[in-house]
Amino acid sequence: MAVVTCIEDLRVLAQRRVPRMFYDYADSGSWSESTYRANSSDLEAIEFRQRVAVDMDQRTLRSTMLGEPVAMPVALAPVGLTGMQRGDGEILAARAAEKFGVPFTLSTMSICSIEDVAAHVSKPFWFQLYVMRDRGFVGRLIDRAKAAGCSALVLTLDLQILGQRHKDLKNGLSTPPKLTLANIANMATKPRWCWAMLRTRRREFGNIVGHVTGIDDMSSLSEWTARQFDPKLSWDDVAWIKDRWGGKLVLKGIMDAEDAHRAVASGADALIVSNHGGRQLDGAPSSIRALPAIVDAVGRDIDVWMDGGIRSGQDVIRALALGAKGTLIGRAFVYGLGAMGEAGVTKALEIIAKELDLTMAFCGLRDIADVDANILWRAQNA
Ligand code: GLV
Repeated sequence: MAVVTCIEDLRVLAQRRVPRMFYDYADSGSWSESTYRANSSDLEAIEFRQRVAVDMDQRTLRSTMLGEPVAMPVALAPVGLTGMQRGDGEILAARAAEKFGVPFTLSTMSICSIEDVAAHVSKPFWFQLYVMRDRGFVGRLIDRAKAAGCSALVLTLDLQILGQRHKDLKNGLSTPPKLTLANIANMATKPRWCWAMLRTRRREFGNIVGHVTGIDDMSSLSEWTARQFDPKLSWDDVAWIKDRWGGKLVLKGIMDAEDAHRAVASGADALIVSNHGGRQLDGAPSSIRALPAIVDAVGRDIDVWMDGGIRSGQDVIRALALGAKGTLIGRAFVYGLGAMGEAGVTKALEIIAKELDLTMAFCGLRDIADVDANILWRAQNA
């Protein structure tokens, strides 16, 4: 096997090893995918100031997120259907994150359940919440996350309705996949995936199946979301959710300074500047473009994090330079998982950490806490 040196190598391997419908599910944005592409291309366009003859010995990436020590300010973002990228995927990714020393966030729409993941890790992880019409179920999900010892609740605010991703409709995305001739033919070319999937019984939405009554076929994500997610979600819901949860709360999906002020007023501990990886409002600006105005507006009152488009350590430090206190990666670790299971997630984290460390050094710094806009070329050459 060729040597893996960057996230792109993991993506290429994942594309080869994961059935098309699940690879495409991760590697897509809504409609024209312009926001999806801009998330990465706007990051790449940000240039650094190269500094020389600076002592670069004894560097550290150690930081904190929500007061928890982290090996680097990078958390694994919640990603639906992670357990379809590789059998038991959420457990594998959570383990890799725990060993590396970064937070793992379990999606409501995961395959492995909250309880299942908790049984396979030794440190607390974060739980991401979607708000369904059935508030009783939402309340029970919050209680389950609490009982499992989750150390933060990440409430997603940008997915009351689902953006259309053409590939999912064309592929007939469902979990478990329907055994059509085309799907069987495609899966037959993915022996690693089949092997892991045959060895696990976790093939449905583990947090949901068996925990709600009166819901029949929920295999189609788009149909189920349309029927169950609550289009009426409001800031009043944030208040009762915060109350019921009683722990650290992170609000995900903030792209606007006015909404950021509401997030601060809600008493949340952190907010995530995010356009859902370009999967919701196609035509929204990239996360990195939205970040500075939000940091300006509320950066003194709340921890501002960012996700969207991060495929390298350089991207992480770009977000930090523009004021993010932390970042999250989704596809970057999902590609690792699809490519090589737990080892692939570890590889993705190692790649990003190494790139982050060296980039920081080339910019003349030794401590990640010192990163600010001064490392950017435009700060000196505007
Ligand atoms: C969320 O679950 C998504 O598909 O983006």
